[in-house]
Amino acid sequence: MTMSSSLRREVTHFQPRLAIDEAMTPPASWYTWPDFFERERETVFAQNWQFACPLDKVRENGQYVRVDVQGETYVILRDENGDMRGFHNVCRHHAAQLVVGEGCAEELVCPYHGWTYGLDGVLKSAPQMGAMKGFKRMRFALPPVEVEVWGPLVFFHPGTPERPFAESFADLGPRLNAFGSAALMHVTRRRYPMNCNWKVFVDNYLDGGYHIAHLHRGLASQLSMDSYATQVFDMHSVQTCASNATPKNSEGHDFKERIGRGSIYAFLYPNFMINRYGPIMDTNWVLPIDATHCEVVFDYWFPAKEGAEAERFIEQSLAASDRVQQEDIAISESVQRGLRSRSYNTGRYAPALEIAMHHFHRLLSSDLTEV
Ligand SMILES: [Fe+2]
Repeated sequence: MTMSSSLRREVTHFQPRLAIDEAMTPPASWYTWPDFFERERETVFAQNWQFACPLDKVRENGQYVRVDVQGETYVILRDENGDMRGFHNVCRHHAAQLVVGEGCAEELVCPYHGWTYGLDGVLKSAPQMGAMKGFKRMRFALPPVEVEVWGPLVFFHPGTPERPFAESFADLGPRLNAFGSAALMHVTRRRYPMNCNWKVFVDNYLDGGYHIAHLHRGLASQLSMDSYATQVFDMHSVQTCASNATPKNSEGHDFKERIGRGSIYAFLYPNFMINRYGPIMDTNWVLPIDATHCEVVFDYWFPAKEGAEAERFIEQSLAASDRVQQEDIAISESVQRGLRSRSYNTGRYAPALEIAMHHFHRLLSSDLTEV
């Protein structure tokens, strides 16, 4: 789809070549216009690596999960040979969705008219289609998508990847492995619906810790904010912060224990975050719903989940995480309301802090302006 002139004007309102200390932030239309949302669907979410699920969900042969991202639906599975595969989750007959949720199966059977696909995506049988002229079963395989397992996480690419996953995020693997990420177990998932554009939440995450001292007082007391640092790479950015060796904060939330020796916040463009706090990890998957709504899916990973001590630690960590998340939701929804105001169109960047946010907007600008 070619862009309308009004959409093009809004996309190019942000000037990616300007340095951070000169640049204006993207205009409010980026966060409010339905046309903008559609443009993202055709570009940002069609041509970048996407999170699929925790590896624990597709460990056994035949296990599958449905993954819905930005109006598209996919099925990610492990076939009978143990190989990971992914497909568009849409029947080639009349477009019904093949799988609902997750499960384990030997074949994918469409609930509408019984068209049956192998775990390799090939159409095995199509009841009563025999007499149709020119119908070649083999031409009706499910369109595949590329799948990549990375530590305890599964990703896929909805289009044609320019580079393998590991190359796109080259610096990140060793850094996360140093934390022992691959050995972590998936413990639980929480979903947070939010009344804001998905990029408002991402921007908040990428402000270089700017908001922590103001919005997350409990968290701030456990972080050594002077050590906060941001690095940007090709398709990702990394924020790091050392922990502060103070005792439990006055509100009884044991952030220190949760944070351990420090934290690392990795952002994988366009909508996935990996957070390491000492021994544990959580991932945040930001799913656009429409121009002014999104949902953030939190997955929590721990080194152990059995036993009273592990359970206590998990419970405390989840409570601390939820508190921070509620603060982030409230401010993100406040920003979304402000973006609708007649008084506001664009803002500025804090040049020493909001480096990863500026990087995010440059990547978006590049994807959005593509012909
Ligand atoms: Fe925050």
